Amino acid sequence: MEQILEREAVEALVEWYRKSHRDLPWRRTKDPYRIWISEIMLQQTRVEAVKPYYARFLEAFPTVEALAEAEEQRLMKLWEGLGYYSRARNLQRAAKTIVERYGGNLPADEKLLRGLCGIGDYTAGAIASIAFGLPAPAVDGNVLRVLSRITGSYEDISLLETKKRWAEALRAVIPEDAGSFTQALIELGATVCVPNGEAKCNQCPLASRCVARRKGLVDSLPVKASKKPRRVERLTVLILQDGQRTVLHQRPPKGLLAGLFELPNLRGHLETEAVWNAVREMGAEPIRVERVEDAKHIFTHVEWHMIGYRVRIGVDFDGLRRDEATLLVDNPSLRAEYPIPSAFSAYVKYLN
Ligand code: ADE
Repeated sequence: MEQILEREAVEALVEWYRKSHRDLPWRRTKDPYRIWISEIMLQQTRVEAVKPYYARFLEAFPTVEALAEAEEQRLMKLWEGLGYYSRARNLQRAAKTIVERYGGNLPADEKLLRGLCGIGDYTAGAIASIAFGLPAPAVDGNVLRVLSRITGSYEDISLLETKKRWAEALRAVIPEDAGSFTQALIELGATVCVPNGEAKCNQCPLASRCVARRKGLVDSLPVKASKKPRRVERLTVLILQDGQRTVLHQRPPKGLLAGLFELPNLRGHLETEAVWNAVREMGAEPIRVERVEDAKHIFTHVEWHMIGYRVRIGVDFDGLRRDEATLLVDNPSLRAEYPIPSAFSAYVKYLN
C-alpha cells in the first residue's frame, strides 16, 4: 500500500498539534493510569462532559489499587450521568487484573493492554502511544474521518476491516513522538476536520494535501453505512412516594444499565386509571396520581419514550410487595447514594 501520509505531512501535523492543541487535563500528565481513565471516559462522550468526571474520579481513585478496591456503588455513583456504564465496571475489572498481574502498573505493551477488560484496539493504541511513546496506531471515529478525507477514500468506516486497514497504514508512518502524532490526529478530527458540513479547512495543516478538499468531497466523506433504526420502547415511569420515602428498583445484573437504580416503570403508556390499578397491584394504596412530563432517552440501540406519573402513597406503603430488587429509600439519602442513570433525569427532579 502506498503511504497514507508522507513524512512532511506527518511533521506538519505534529507541529500543528504542538502549537494549537487544547489544554486538557489529561494532556498535562504522562501517567498511564490517568491517560487510560481519560481515554475510556472520552469514548462516545464529549470533552466538556468528561472534564468534571475525570477530576472527581481521580480524586476518589487516585491509583490503580484504589480503583481495584473501590466499592461498586460508589464507583457507579461517580459515573452517574456519563452513560455506557459497562465502561466503569470494565475499568474496575481491568484494575484488578493490573494489580494481580502487573503489580499495579499498566503494561507498556500494546498487546498486553488489549488483553485488559474494556481495552480494544483504539484504546490500547492510544495508551501505548500517548503514555508510553510506543509506535502504536489509535483509530477512532475522528481519525477515520480525517484519514478518509485526506486520502479521498470511499471505504465504509463502519466496517472493522476498514478500521484495521487504516490502523496498519498508520503504523507504517508513526514518527518518533508517537504520542503527539496520535493526539494530533484526534485533535484535528475533533476541532478542524469536523463533521456536519462544518469542516474548517482553512485552519488545517494538511489542507494542501487533502484529496477530499481538492475534489470537493469534504462533506461527502467519510462513507458510513446507515445503521438499522433503533428499537422504540414505550415506558410509564412512576415516582412513588409517601411523605418520606421513594420506591427504587435495581435493574438486573446484565443488559442495559445493568445493576443501576431506576424509578419503577411499566411497559407501554398507561392511562391514569391503569396507573391506579397497577400501583394497587404492587400492594400500595395511592391517594393521588398526577401526570408529569414526557421524556425521551436515546441509547445506542434503543430509544425510550417515557411518560411519567407522580403517585402519592397513603399510610400503607409497607404493604408494598417487595422483591430483592425493590427498595424503599429515605428521600434524603436517595440522590446522594444511589446511582440513577440520566435516562431518568426528567423525573429525578421530583425526588426530594
Ligand atoms: N478523544 C479521545 N481521546 C482524546 C484525547 N486524548 N483528547 C481529546 N479528545 C479525545
